[in-house]
Amino acid sequence: MIPLDLPEPSPEAQAHSARLRELIAAEIRANRGAIAFSRYMELALYAPGFGYYSAGATKFGAAGDFVTAPELGGLFAACIAEATAPVLRRFKGEGCFLELGGGSGAFAAAVLPALAARNALPAGYWILEPSADLRERQRERLQAELDAGIFERVRWLDRLPDDDWNGVLFANEVLDALPTTRFVMSGGEVMEQSVCLHGEAFAFCERPADMLVSAAVRHVERSLGRAFADGYTSELLPQLPYWLDAVCGALAQGLVLFVDYGYPRREFYLAEREQGTLLCHYRHRVHADPFVLPGLQDITASVDFTAVAEAGQHAGLELAGYSSQAAFLLNNGLQQHVEAGPADAVGAHRRALEAKRLILPSEMGERFQVMGLARGVDCEDQFAFGDQSHRL
Ligand SMILES: C[S@@+](CC[C@H](N)C(=O)[O-])C[C@H]1O[C@@H](n2cnc3c(N)ncnc32)[C@H](O)[C@@H]1O
Repeated sequence: MIPLDLPEPSPEAQAHSARLRELIAAEIRANRGAIAFSRYMELALYAPGFGYYSAGATKFGAAGDFVTAPELGGLFAACIAEATAPVLRRFKGEGCFLELGGGSGAFAAAVLPALAARNALPAGYWILEPSADLRERQRERLQAELDAGIFERVRWLDRLPDDDWNGVLFANEVLDALPTTRFVMSGGEVMEQSVCLHGEAFAFCERPADMLVSAAVRHVERSLGRAFADGYTSELLPQLPYWLDAVCGALAQGLVLFVDYGYPRREFYLAEREQGTLLCHYRHRVHADPFVLPGLQDITASVDFTAVAEAGQHAGLELAGYSSQAAFLLNNGLQQHVEAGPADAVGAHRRALEAKRLILPSEMGERFQVMGLARGVDCEDQFAFGDQSHRL
């Protein structure tokens, strides 16, 4: 069933979703009637050939389901180039730039020329992208848009680097796309939300949480100084410290920047946010039902940035700063980049509109946050204005 306010997908798209639905249902049946929600989300987003990010539909931009900051134009990438160029220049042409989750390739297409203009081109621009379909689209776009001398630095990684490297690791809207665990409190116990079948339909069910999930929830309770009320339902990423350790493990020196929507822990787990932060995006409509149109809609959860800082510490990284996207972009030259654009009235108007979408509190400015984690480099300047690390 498609909720009434969502646009009707084409018959081919509906057939595609039905095939993914059947694949997930088969795994549920084979798993004694239930799979963890995180596994459901993993299949819905990344099942090879069928998942939302693995299959061929347009996802980004006006014709897709949602718009990310790099899709708006070049201003976001220009500010990230401003912030990361000093780090790359330290390594005198030997530093690398690792982008996690390259999306449509819009960010790489804009940040590489911006780094070149700052005499800070990385020796290698690596993209770690789990979706084969997106990798292909990124390759086509970057080959068409970048100078050959820049394009030859771009490489798609099949796995994280084993050897030590220096430079910058960057991820915009990747943490919110990691398959999340959902928990529910029941009689003082931690239960894990699972997905089962009611007839042909997916439904939530519960089972006692395993040690990893239970310990992660109890850790959050301790850190908040209060227990969750009965029935409280929310998300967390128990695997985050291991994931971050793996992602940043070989970074010998450099800066890690995560940009995403989320909150410090105290705001993430507000008592009134009792159903968590799960959101789904389909054709620019936002709703909270992850079982609608599997494979055709994005599923996301907000980021607990306190957990990211803790995971960074676990991986031996220092917190360089934490600020709203608006503060970070303004701190890293947004105003100058707006003024440096084309002087004609249309170009200037476009850039002003783009800047507004990036920084207005009612748009992306406050909802999106930037966290910097550093190893062996000083990055305080990048967060000199509006650092909110004290809120973590
Ligand atoms: C919401 S999109 C954001 C894309 C892009 N960064 C942007 O801002 O437009 C999420 C991206 O993260 C990728 N992704 C998901 N899990 C990932 C992981 N574990 N490592 C790297 N990329 C991942 C997805 O395939 C997709 O490209």
